[in-house]
Amino acid sequence: MDYEIRSTRTEDIPGIVNLYAEATKLMHRLSPAGFGERLGEPIDVKKEQESFSQALVDKGTVILVAEKDGEIAGFVMGVIENYPDDLLDSPYLTIQYICVDERFRRTGMGKALMQEVERWALCKGITNLDLMVWDTNTPAQSLFRRMGYVPLDIRMGKKLKGK
Ligand SMILES: CC(C)(COP(=O)(O)OP(=O)(O)OC[C@H]1O[C@@H](n2cnc3c(N)ncnc32)[C@H](O)[C@@H]1OP(=O)(O)O)[C@@H](O)C(=O)NCCC(=O)NCCS
Repeated sequence: MDYEIRSTRTEDIPGIVNLYAEATKLMHRLSPAGFGERLGEPIDVKKEQESFSQALVDKGTVILVAEKDGEIAGFVMGVIENYPDDLLDSPYLTIQYICVDERFRRTGMGKALMQEVERWALCKGITNLDLMVWDTNTPAQSLFRRMGYVPLDIRMGKKLKGK
């Protein structure tokens, strides 16, 4: 596969938001029964573009893209967390998003994005990383396990019946 993993430029933001919109639809399909209804609504493209643009200028945030034939084929975003945590020494890097275009999945792009973001963390002297992944998202869990991530905690949810 011929693609380049590189830092994000402002002109990449629309491509990133397209991937984010696709990932949101997938997450809606993967939502546990009774949860995540809001993910079924179309995203506010302008708002998301502003939010990623803001993240791009934030020194504690890293966004890397995989560019293939001039297209944004994947991206990963991580945020440095500075507050104390019981399980991880801070500062640590939280991977907030990773997404690869459906057409290019299972070609090693997700792994390459993760490796590059880990390299970025090491350059900053950060050796701890974490991320959240849904219980139903087996492809992503497989990638993260393959990359050496281990489960740390389990999030549980309950909805109370109103009056
Ligand atoms: C998760 C995701 C980023 C993986 O990207 P990818 O480019 O397909 O992953 P890679 O090709 O680098 O896969 C690396 C390894 O991860 C594992 N893996 C990835 N996808 C898998 C799948 N669908 N089933 C089983 N294992 C999988 C495999 O071990 C794979 O190695 P192999 O292909 O040699 O067997 C991609 O599926 C995606 O964008 N999903 C939608 C967004 C998402 O769920 N993001 C994570 C939210 S927490």
